[in-house]
Amino acid sequence: MRHRTQVAVIGAGPAGLLLSQLLFRAGIDCVVLERRSRAHVEARIRAGVLEQGTVDLLDRAGVGERLRREGLPHHGVRLAVDGDAFRIDLHGLTGGRSVTVYGQTEVTQDLIRAHRDRGAALHFGAEEVALHDLTSGAPSVTYVHEGVPHRLSCDYVAGCDGYHGVARASVPAEALRVFEREYPFGWLGILADVPPCDSELIYSNHVRGFALASMRSPTRSRYYVQVPLTERPENWPDERLWDELAVRLGPGAAARMTRGPAIEKSIAPLRSFVAEPMRHGRLFLAGDAAHIVPPTGAKGLNLAASDVGFLAEALIERLAGGSEAGLDAYSARALARVWMAERFSWWFTGLTHRFPDMDGFARRMQVAELNYIRASETARATVAENYVGLPLAYAAGGRDAR
Ligand code: FAD
Ligand code: PHB
Repeated sequence: MRHRTQVAVIGAGPAGLLLSQLLFRAGIDCVVLERRSRAHVEARIRAGVLEQGTVDLLDRAGVGERLRREGLPHHGVRLAVDGDAFRIDLHGLTGGRSVTVYGQTEVTQDLIRAHRDRGAALHFGAEEVALHDLTSGAPSVTYVHEGVPHRLSCDYVAGCDGYHGVARASVPAEALRVFEREYPFGWLGILADVPPCDSELIYSNHVRGFALASMRSPTRSRYYVQVPLTERPENWPDERLWDELAVRLGPGAAARMTRGPAIEKSIAPLRSFVAEPMRHGRLFLAGDAAHIVPPTGAKGLNLAASDVGFLAEALIERLAGGSEAGLDAYSARALARVWMAERFSWWFTGLTHRFPDMDGFARRMQVAELNYIRASETARATVAENYVGLPLAYAAGGRDAR
């Protein structure tokens, strides 16, 4: 079957869904193609912290209602050294900005519901997605849906299909530069229907390894411990994981921690990755398709949102009959912000995790830096402004690296 649309969006993660929603509200036609089922996409447990800019963008996309009602505003965050915690006053140190705790699962569900309500072209279970003629004036996407082959002609393709997707893989290797760091550990995460141990998140540097206490709601907690990449969730029965969390988060948090059965338990590897540029002809990459950050800075979902904010603006300008200037500037504009978040996520990971080759000196450097952050308001302000999301102006006007 043959079809036509203005923008073919590959992937129904937060990037693809939010882009399609923003384009729809500007009267632009698009089709979203997602490889997995709706149930799979809606159940995937991932990020939990939204920057103010992401909340504002979701509002502008018309999907902020439940988020405003159920999201938890967080005005502070805690860092701990061997269980001894101190607070970073995000609100006070950034002129009143904060973050909102609201699961990526909820964001995705809200966006899918908005698509369904307006009868949008959102196809789950799209197989064998392939991109064609990206550097011509008439690109297209072929795929198989419910056994039927389709060809979708379009003006532009948005590659929002994550790190393992087909979009970045469709760009010739010589047209992309890739920058990468792999970390020799992963995060073992547990989700449980128990009240959180604290009203704010706790990031703990412990001599046994990193731990994070997070949450999804006043009755649902999310915790992580750093584990070697060779670990498997089966080796971590619930009691072992709760015991380890109690040690790494320290006696104060342990005393307030409620244990309960895991609803979900999985291990995610940590990686820093950027592919430049984020454009190839009429293909534009956004979100994890173009870059990955380790989750320590809680930036992955927020970067996906800021990419599609830029991309939607540029596509709307162009498809409303305006100039291509926004599309031409997209990659550089998005990458300037991406690299700032890459830097923060890499730095925060290095500050809080135990590395296999770490000696006493390296550990003392971490502890000295954490003690400096504890003591210095200037240092706390640096962490705070990065954590809540840097103003767009910070990414503008800098120099590109060669
Ligand atoms: P994705 O959410 O990956 O969405 C891409 C979509 O494209 C998927 O639905 C996929 O099924 C689909 N797709 C892939 N290939 C194809 C294809 N060939 N055809 C059609 N569709 C395709 N960030 C944090 O900030 N905190 C966290 O705790 C955190 N935990 C994470 C845990 C894991 C296991 C992972 C993988 C990521 C985590 N992240 C976290 C990162 C954050 O979730 C991502 O940055 C965010 O999901 C990016 O959104 P996206 O839409 O760009 O990509
Ligand atoms: C989460 O709640 O899943 C979460 C929170 C903060 C992070 C990473 C993950 O930095």
